[in-house]
Amino acid sequence: MPRKVNYGLDYDDDYDDDNDYDDYDIDYDVEDNAFSVVTGNLHKPNQEATRSGIWRCSICTYDNDQSMTACDICGVLRNPLPSSGISNGNDLKTAPFKFDVPSPDDIVTNGLRSSKMGPKASANVKKNNMSAPMSTRSSNSSSLTMPKGRNVAGNENNQLKDGERNLRSSAKSPDEMAGTSSSYHEGGVEYTLPMDEIKPRSLAYSLDSASINDRGGYSNSYGTGKAASQGQYKPEKWMLHEAEDGLLSQLNLAIVGHVDSGKSTLSGRLLHLLGQISQKDMHKHEKEAKLQGKGSFAYAWALDESPEERERGITMTVAVAYFDTKRYRVVVLDSPGHKDFVPNMISGATQADAALLVIDASNGSFEAGMDGSKGQTKEHAQLIRSFGVDQLIVAVNKMDVVQYSKDRFDLIKQQLGTFLRSSGFRDSSVLWIPLSAMENQNLVTAPSDIRLLSWYKGPYLLDAIDSLQPPTRNVSKPLVMPICDVIKSPSMGQVSACGKLEAGALRSGVKVLVMPSGDVGTVRSLERDTRPCAIARAGDNVAVVLQGIDTSHVISGGVLCHPDFPITIAKHLELKVLVLDGASPILIGSQLEFHIHHAKEVARVEKMVSLFDPKTGKVMKKAPRCLLAKQSAVIEVVLQGPVCAEEFSSCKALGRVSLRALGRTLAVGIVTRVIEKEPIAFFKSKYFVFFSK
Ligand code: GTP
Ligand code: MG
Repeated sequence: MPRKVNYGLDYDDDYDDDNDYDDYDIDYDVEDNAFSVVTGNLHKPNQEATRSGIWRCSICTYDNDQSMTACDICGVLRNPLPSSGISNGNDLKTAPFKFDVPSPDDIVTNGLRSSKMGPKASANVKKNNMSAPMSTRSSNSSSLTMPKGRNVAGNENNQLKDGERNLRSSAKSPDEMAGTSSSYHEGGVEYTLPMDEIKPRSLAYSLDSASINDRGGYSNSYGTGKAASQGQYKPEKWMLHEAEDGLLSQLNLAIVGHVDSGKSTLSGRLLHLLGQISQKDMHKHEKEAKLQGKGSFAYAWALDESPEERERGITMTVAVAYFDTKRYRVVVLDSPGHKDFVPNMISGATQADAALLVIDASNGSFEAGMDGSKGQTKEHAQLIRSFGVDQLIVAVNKMDVVQYSKDRFDLIKQQLGTFLRSSGFRDSSVLWIPLSAMENQNLVTAPSDIRLLSWYKGPYLLDAIDSLQPPTRNVSKPLVMPICDVIKSPSMGQVSACGKLEAGALRSGVKVLVMPSGDVGTVRSLERDTRPCAIARAGDNVAVVLQGIDTSHVISGGVLCHPDFPITIAKHLELKVLVLDGASPILIGSQLEFHIHHAKEVARVEKMVSLFDPKTGKVMKKAPRCLLAKQSAVIEVVLQGPVCAEEFSSCKALGRVSLRALGRTLAVGIVTRVIEKEPIAFFKSKYFVFFSK
């Protein structure tokens, strides 16, 4: 069974000790108001100090230590955040509602006229820094449910949760957005939300000079060395792909979709059918699920391990499991569908190479998932697309409930297909599979039920997964591994950083720069699916056991990188964003949740630089004061704390962002410019005073 991956390290399992979850059903629904505005006044969940040194999570009611900025159990951001001690005048305070912004009607009336003057485009700052995650979890952290460690990376649901908005996409792809501030770039489109064609952008990297010194030569802390330019990077021979006996390439498959569509059941069933869950374990799940009167969740329980998830019957954090197909070692990232846990979904799905969008075919359920304000089907699809995923399998599940009706399948395909097209998915990259996880129809073999067999002639699910195109891997670039999960073993002086290598390669003995601390550690060993592995390359999802480093300096939301090619830490960024369909207006001064790889921060919209014409992509207005649904614009945000971020044009994985508020994703986008880098020294002195124990 796909138990949570245990990386073989000791860590305290405090998960089971938490039994104070009585208030789980807090409902954060806030009515949608088409004209409500995201202002700086955020809803403040009732996360209050229940006793000295403790704050209580408003979602799961877990009592967290004061030093935590996010709930250690569910990852929800603490609100209000404690002062980080970082103060340079940009500290975010709750910004008052601004009355000097135009009303939506004003926008409509004056929309095409440019007002004031704007922006200044500016020079890019670059490299070398890193980010500060915000959801620091001191020990078993994060967002992916690996071992038992669920990936709670996404914190916060609540940070800004109050009203919701929906998204839907509308225009431009990240790369379109990648154009500098005021000009529209035709090429390099990474993804396109509504209507546009996807134009994958390739980053040219020259592999010249400079070699990696993987066995030393670095001091234990970054700061004195100078960063090399990426053009100088030259990978060593062992880093490049070569035929390795019996090793399948990894495919990170995010399982996404509306709550209760059957994602965990489908994942559990697949794992069982493919021999990853023993008969004994399966029997145990069945028995326990029946005892709790939840017999139908037996397969889901293979992934939903925590008592809270089982009690509530929902997935809360991303679970990680593995199975093999003929071509791939598939890393299953089973995401939560509940709207409160979208931040966790973001943290897990940001690693995806491809996605399986699970739809509940039953009458009313598909429609609920598609609901603009309450459903998660569209939001998940758009987020996945904004992460650069363009290969999608739509699993139309629970076909048994609709008697394997072709008409129902066709209706779902037609309605959802239109939406996916408008979100930037190409028809040719979307596979539609009718199935039933519960009745084991069309999963790993062709269907046996005549009602399905009579009209469906396509591939079964496993075949469809096998037919996905292998993703391009950046093995020739310097190491970049965003950390989604951390497992500590202080007694052994070791810490495991878990995540997907986005670029470069690792093997034991190699020195890595751990950001944002700026410390240099040594890779002691690597594990893939709990098994030791010699080399990990771009695309691999691994646990990197580090030594020679302060374990408290390795945090989820941080990044492992090459010591000569440090990534940037910043809190003042220029973004090109697309406001999703149905989202409330965004104003100057709006406070939003800012998500980037596995990090999240509170962000304030500092400035709006320019607004693009959705038809031509040209700048149609400088310095707009409000962004409406479906609009694309360049804005500046100031974060409450620094994050590891790079311009999208230099590192896609560290340059994709999503902005949320009130429990809804409002906009997706890319980093077009790092306006202000944070020096490591500053970061170390301020950040770790607060975050380290
Ligand atoms: P979240 O993770 O909370 O979003 O839910 P989920 O999408 O993982 O759904 P889960 O697997 O927990 O299943 C929800 C319910 O749907 C359970 O009662 C399952 O038994 C049921 N279910 C899943 N697949 C099928 C199916 O193919 N047919 C029928 N009839 N029920 C199914
Ligand atoms: Mg689930």
